[in-house]
Amino acid sequence: MPYPESMRASIKKLEETRESRLNQKIPILSIDEKNQLLKEFHPDYRPGVHRELKAGVNKGDMAVVELANLLEARSTVDPNSVDLSKIELEVDTLVVGAGGAGLTAAIFSCDEGASVALATKLRLGDSNTTMAEGGINAAISPGDSPSIHYLDTMGGGNFTNIPELVRALSTDSPLAIKWLEDLGVPFDRDPDSDLPLPLLAGGHSRPRVCSVGDYTGMSIIQVLRAEVENRPIRVMEFSAVVELILDDKGQCAGAVLFDLLTRIPQVVKAKSVIIATGGIGRLHIQGFPTTNHYGATADGLIVGYRAGAKLGYLDSIQFHPTGTAYPDQLLGLLVTEVSRSRGAQLVDVNGERYINELQTRDCVASANVRQVIGRKKGITTPSGMQGVWLDTPLIDIIHGEGTVQKSYTHLYHRFKRYDIDFSKEPILIYPAQHYQNGGIITDDIGRSNVPNLYAAGEAAGGVHGRNRLGGNSLSDLFVFGRRAGIDAARRAPEIESGRLSLNHVFEYANALETAGSLTEASSPILLPDYRFEKVFPKFNQ
Ligand code: FUM
Repeated sequence: MPYPESMRASIKKLEETRESRLNQKIPILSIDEKNQLLKEFHPDYRPGVHRELKAGVNKGDMAVVELANLLEARSTVDPNSVDLSKIELEVDTLVVGAGGAGLTAAIFSCDEGASVALATKLRLGDSNTTMAEGGINAAISPGDSPSIHYLDTMGGGNFTNIPELVRALSTDSPLAIKWLEDLGVPFDRDPDSDLPLPLLAGGHSRPRVCSVGDYTGMSIIQVLRAEVENRPIRVMEFSAVVELILDDKGQCAGAVLFDLLTRIPQVVKAKSVIIATGGIGRLHIQGFPTTNHYGATADGLIVGYRAGAKLGYLDSIQFHPTGTAYPDQLLGLLVTEVSRSRGAQLVDVNGERYINELQTRDCVASANVRQVIGRKKGITTPSGMQGVWLDTPLIDIIHGEGTVQKSYTHLYHRFKRYDIDFSKEPILIYPAQHYQNGGIITDDIGRSNVPNLYAAGEAAGGVHGRNRLGGNSLSDLFVFGRRAGIDAARRAPEIESGRLSLNHVFEYANALETAGSLTEASSPILLPDYRFEKVFPKFNQ
């Protein structure tokens, strides 16, 4: 689907201004300018998009409405229908979720001597990690250090991050790169060096994103999947977590899994449970398209909350500045930030730049919204979607012909299927829901406030504060997946589980009823509802 005539007039303007833009420097916004921009145009600041939670550990906190509605819904399974005496499987560590955090936790827990089950709603590896394009951060280049990575991450999060988590992230990330390299992840490298070649991403003061082309996540998952398959780890695919099980001492002691094929709930008893269920993109917060995979429906947060786990930052969503806005078939899919590191510029309908492309994501996404909604300088597609241009041909102009095809092989083919050659033509983009900044609050080894319940990866919250820096999510999931997996295994011998119970599910429903807040919905929803009229309202008009 090549660009229609109606969009071509604007492409012509973009081409006319290209040369003069090549060396144009746009200054980084001051803190005051940034805060003003966020307040006016970041979707998190829109009125009516949050509501107060009425029951549970976070009672009184604000959460995005779509998540709040699921946190205050009935259980997807009738707890009375679950026979807790019929235990399907008993293990030391049960990991729920099989993306980067889950696979890492399972591998390390197993290597530490624990018996491990890994349950996943879809297939092993189906996750946001697999879809990760840009890469994984670590302070490995000359002139960088974990302390500088720490400072950048705190600054990127507007200093709302939990410091000890950021310390763990920045300190352990180089170990994660070494581990992945040793397992065979083929990071891009400088021909003259033995180390991966890190790139610069938005908000970082040093190059530290290590990539495998634009399919970093897929490469990593391929390697980790093989590692799991080569260990005595019981893998349970199409097994979605629908409740956690507590014992009569208030400890987490397993989970109820729902077998999507037989539709029968299964009881897994475990000394520890690690929630690694990933993100919430498929809730389509405010109707935004998402970069996330099909199963990103907040399941871990919901069951964790019913079991008493403290959540945090529930009002803070990351909108990636460059989700695809055309063609409609690719709506929301990620166009990696690393394209901007290599010089692709954001340009409006008149061919003008309006923001330094390597500021933090909250800032760049807000600037894109401002250009479209506030300044009415967006480009409209035949279906009524609006966006701004990402001038990708600059990449070949700056780095030499063939760079786009070589460095963005996956994206190149994705667009080529619709007759768009983005080494020669720009791509239309608009912010898409990318990441939940919030999640289950943990300490620096992934432990939640519920004994024997851990969280790692996107399901956990706090390390990124209210805005994550690009590349830090892959670092996060290896760092905390590893720490949680090891700790769960080491503690297993000392854990005595008591009598299994789902009383907390009844108690939470009663608390909601008393607060007058029990919704008609049931949760976790497990898969998104795609009757089209329910999602993608014309959010940018
Ligand atoms: O733009 C990207 O490649 C995304 C990276 C991330 O979210 O960390």
